[in-house]
Amino acid sequence: MTILKLFEYPHPVLKQKTEKVEKVDKEVKKLLDDMLETMYATNGCGLAAPQIGVSKKIVVIDIAHEDEEANPMYFVNPEIVWRSDETITAEEGCLSIPGQRAEVERAAAVKVKYLDYNGDEQEMLAEDFLAKAVQHELDHLDGVLYIDHLSRLKRQMLLKKLEKFRKENSGN
Ligand code: NI
Repeated sequence: MTILKLFEYPHPVLKQKTEKVEKVDKEVKKLLDDMLETMYATNGCGLAAPQIGVSKKIVVIDIAHEDEEANPMYFVNPEIVWRSDETITAEEGCLSIPGQRAEVERAAAVKVKYLDYNGDEQEMLAEDFLAKAVQHELDHLDGVLYIDHLSRLKRQMLLKKLEKFRKENSGN
């Protein structure tokens, strides 16, 4: 498996709409494996293909805690087919916006249809933290980042902090 390069804000690939995957073939499986490895290597709990520069509808998620067994979930061509009216608000971060977090309101539960690692159709009811992760990652497939859900003022403040964070961590 290979650890892939992460594309960060404001790379244009993060704003692109992604294309559907025709078939879950060897190439797609390799991408799923590499994305999972990359996500684990960066301590993320979700990763969408645009974040590794691939404009396709592919997502991996693992929300297991560090002291729990790994629980990788693979989503190809995922689509949210139902959202609860009830919402939850909690902090989110994103591997493409390093060092930052902000509160985002999301549906508390969603139903998602997708193809799994074997290319079989699945439907899943995701709740709470998993619901948030699914919505966050599927947003990436539409070129939407969590900061797009913030007010303009909050977004500007976060982007300033991101700039500062990058300067402090650039090593010069
Ligand atoms: Ni993200």
